[in-house]
Amino acid sequence: MNKKLEDAINVQINFEIESAHIYLAMLGYVSTLGLAGFENWLAVQYEEELAHAKKFMKYINERGGRVIITGFEDPKLDYKSLLEVFETALNHEYKVTKRINNIMKMAHEENDYATISFLQWFIDEQVEEEDNFSTLIEKIKLVKDAGLYMLDKELALRVFVPITE
Ligand SMILES: [Fe+2]
Repeated sequence: MNKKLEDAINVQINFEIESAHIYLAMLGYVSTLGLAGFENWLAVQYEEELAHAKKFMKYINERGGRVIITGFEDPKLDYKSLLEVFETALNHEYKVTKRINNIMKMAHEENDYATISFLQWFIDEQVEEEDNFSTLIEKIKLVKDAGLYMLDKELALRVFVPITE
């Protein structure tokens, strides 16, 4: 496959793994608040990010490219509140969307139709990711302590659904 695109997707693979790591660190903070539902929700988010990385890895391999795994900075460990956790997460998702859009732009410039088709899934997924986080932020803002207890119970029900081809 096109080397420029292969490199860009490799950067994205590592960013997806870094995203998983960031959400795992958020889970670590949320664990200190005694909100098991929020912990579960973030654990599912962690799984989703790793599934995204694996989906990109599979694609590079299918196109005869070489997956390159690198390292990344330590994630942020401490937050002031539950709200700050999810606001940070939403801002992180905006960054992810921007990166996916840039790779899509590159795929168009290189006339790589297979990659354009492949990336469409991620474009759609990002709409869902941003919506998930912003809806949750709205809910956190709306509820007080008793409501937070109910919301925690709701989030405990989220399950990881593997990506279907
Ligand atoms: Fe992702």
